[in-house]
Formats: sequence, C-alpha cells, structure tokens
Amino acid sequence: MDTILVTGGTGYIGSHTVVELIEEGFPVVIADNLSNSDLAVLDGIEKITGVRPAFEEIDICDAGKLARLFDTGREIGAIIHFAAFKAVGESVEKPLMYYRNNMVSLMNLLEEMKAGKSANLVFSSSCTVYGQPDTLPVTESAPFKKAASPYGKTKQMSEEIIADVIFANPSLNAISLRYFNPIGAHPSGLIGEVPAGMPDNLVPFITQTAIGLRGELKVFGDDYNTPDGSCIRDYLHVADLAKAHVAAVRRLLDRQNREAMEAFNLGTGKGVSVLEMIKTFEKVNKIKINYSITGRRPGDIEQVWADTSLANRELGWSARSSLEETLESAWKWEKYYRNHNK
Ligand code: NAD
Ligand code: WQD
Repeated sequence: MDTILVTGGTGYIGSHTVVELIEEGFPVVIADNLSNSDLAVLDGIEKITGVRPAFEEIDICDAGKLARLFDTGREIGAIIHFAAFKAVGESVEKPLMYYRNNMVSLMNLLEEMKAGKSANLVFSSSCTVYGQPDTLPVTESAPFKKAASPYGKTKQMSEEIIADVIFANPSLNAISLRYFNPIGAHPSGLIGEVPAGMPDNLVPFITQTAIGLRGELKVFGDDYNTPDGSCIRDYLHVADLAKAHVAAVRRLLDRQNREAMEAFNLGTGKGVSVLEMIKTFEKVNKIKINYSITGRRPGDIEQVWADTSLANRELGWSARSSLEETLESAWKWEKYYRNHNK
C-alpha cells in the first residue's frame, strides 16, 4: 500500500486520521514540529491501533528539511496537509505569523509535489471560507465571502493556490476538505483535543468547565435571529471526519478526479445551537454546566450548516455519529486527559 505523509499528524484531527489510515492498512509517516501537540499522542495511537507510526519532527516551513524528508526513498502516495496554525483570535493579533506558517508550509509541499515527490494532496480547509452564507445549507459552490480573520484568509488563499498549481501541472491532484465544527474524541478516550491555554472553541470550554478547570462558560449572545437566540453550527464527530480523509486519499489514488481541485463540505448537515449543545452535554453526561449569557463575540457568524450531498455521493462518506455519542466522547477524553496530566 502507498505510504501517506500526514503533516500535523500529532495534532487533533491529524491523530484521529492517522488511526483511521492505520486501521485501513496504510503505512503512515507523520511530520510535525510539535508546536501545538505532544509526542505522547503517538502512545495513544499505538494503544488504539497496535502500530506506532513513523514520526519526523520537522517544520514544514523549512524547505531544506522537507526536501530531505522526501528523499529518504519512501514512495509517498498522498500527502494529507493538516499542519497549520488555527486560532482565529491569535491570527488577528499576529497576522504575519499566520500567513508565514500556513502559506509557506503549503507552498513548500506544492514545490515538492511539482518536483515529482508525490502526485496527491488532501488539504484541511474550513467552513470559514464561506463566512455567513446567503443560503443555508451551504453548498460548495457558494461564493467565498470576505474572511473575518487572517486565519480564514489563509484557507481561502490556500485553496486558490492549490487550484492554480493543479491546473498548471496536470499530473498533480488535490482535494480540499472544508470542515465544519469538528468536536469529540476517539471512542477509546485515548486521544483527543488538547487546547493550548484558554480554549477558543465551545466544546473544550464546556468540558473544561464540567471538570472544574473553568468557573463558568460564557454563551456569546442569545439575541441572534435563531429559534433560541444562540448561534447555530454544524458539529461533527472528529472520528467521522477522520474517515473522510481515508475516502479522499482513496479517490486520489484511484485517479477518480483527473482535472481540477475538488472541494467537499464535511459536516452532519444539521445545525445545532449553543444552548442545545449545553443541554445535550448535560443530559448525556449527567453533569451540570455553570453558564451565563454574555454579549456577542466579535466576528461570530449567526448560523451555518453544511449541505453534504456532494461528499455523500462522491466520497461515499457521511457523518454517522449522533450528537449524544459525540459529546459523550468529548467528556470521556477530558476525564482521561486530566487524570493522566495532573
Ligand atoms: P492542531 O493544532 O491540533 O494540529 C495541527 C498540527 O500541526 C499540530 O500538531 C502542530 O504542532 C502542527 N504544525 C503547525 N505548524 C506546523 C509546521 N509549520 N510544521 C510542522 N507541523 C506544524 O489543529 P487541528 O484542529 O488538528 O487542525 C488541523 C487542520 O485542520 C488545520 O489546518 C486547521 O486549520 C484545520 N481546521 C481545523 C478545524 C478545527 O476546528 N479544529 C476546523 C477547520 C479546519
Ligand atoms: C462555536 C459557537 C460561539 C465559545 C471556529 C473557527 C472556524 C473553524 C471552527 C477552523 C459559536 C459559541 C464558543 C464559548 C460560546 N475552525 N461559543 N462560548 O466560531 O464556529 O468556528 O472553529 O477552521 O474557522 O472560527 O467555533 O467553537 O469557537 O464556537 O458561546 O466560550 O459557540 O459564539 O456560536 P466557530 P467555536
């Protein structure tokens, strides 16, 4: 089987994808500079799969080291490129750091692909490319609105750069996966999300409040034009999301897409409000969340959820886990992680 290079493979979504790839029999090489992850993730992957994936500690922005990684004689069937900075607020404060990391890493990989080191790329994109869409659910053909942050702009620009490079080099292929809101953890509870410092995202904030690490969850606004007034998102289980990457890799290896870069929405197709998330978490995990309503968070969009019919049809993929299972897995991971990192 072809080896898959997974950049950012010790990170949140990367580690879950590595598990799925190994379980499907793919040899995996992870390349990560550990800027937002820990080597202990490899232990979790090994416990789940029985296989310890090859690991290279490198910065993908270092073109020389990246070239040497490709020159070790391994045949790389496809690259899945997760490595990037992802904190929206931080990207507003440190735009250059975000543009440099997210754009230079991508361009270095594309240079290697152009030099014949691998023909196939799966790129981690985001629903953030759409901004607040005019119609819901949002389809892949919806226009990119002006991005609200430098982070969002890196995803828009990345997709445009990849599309141009694929167009100019017919032997290269790429799939961009636009994730909606990935949450939860592997059902084993052995790997999951580890936010650096104060979490930006809702679910880590909920689990950290439940475990007593945070005193109170602030709900950012209940005066939106939604049924209960809180914002609506499309939250999908990270293990389901991971499976979509295997489907995308297979599609590329089977040369099912021959011409342009393809983009697929990955979500559940269902919108859930912040208040519904809290209520469901409390119900399935039998624990109360201390929360209060505060003002809106600047830059938040009101509501978004995915039309996933293209991914259903072309990748043969759909998000299968219920919200209940997903929020149960998030809580299981939080408890495991805190028990082992006291
Ligand atoms: P993460 O921070 O957990 O994982 C990213 C990994 O990349 C980390 O292990 C980090 O150490 C590594 N990394 C960063 N820059 C690197 C570099 N220059 N060289 C080598 N390694 C580097 O993030 P995640 O949540 O797993 O996200 C993965 C990808 O998915 C990112 O591209 C992110 O923008 C995208 N994405 C994430 C979400 C989300 O909500 N988590 C949503 C949409 C898209
Ligand atoms: C979800 C909802 C908040 C925290 C971000 C990025 C996006 C993508 C996914 C990468 C919103 C509310 C949150 C809290 C709250 N990432 N909330 N209190 O904003 O949809 O998207 O992650 O590509 O680019 O912007 O996710 O988890 O931050 O927020 O009320 O303490 O929870 O207002 O409605 P978001 P989120």
